Amino acid sequence: MPQLHFLTPDGVTHTVEATVGQSVMAAATAAQVPGIVGECGGCCSCATCHVYIDAPWFEALGPLDEMETLMLEGAVEPLAHSRLCCQIEVTEDLDGMMLRIPAGQL
Ligand code: FES
Repeated sequence: MPQLHFLTPDGVTHTVEATVGQSVMAAATAAQVPGIVGECGGCCSCATCHVYIDAPWFEALGPLDEMETLMLEGAVEPLAHSRLCCQIEVTEDLDGMMLRIPAGQL
């Protein structure tokens, strides 16, 4: 199972065992990662699953679609490497990916 590492602003890393095919948001909420709410259930309409993803992972995920780009404009403290993790499907290739939670989202 791919492992995903969520870093919260207090410096704590929350490592989650994810299932291939589920969304990164679903893996995070099932493990109760602080700061990931997933209020809309993953239909890209709430931005409560916002994360920062650094290189090389951000580039490897490919481009955002128009809906995700629009929703990120309303996210907490968006940056150039922001993503909504409900829009990312877990694959074996994501094993070891680091995701950071925005400070204002806790
Ligand atoms: Fe709502 Fe991701 S869970 S936008």
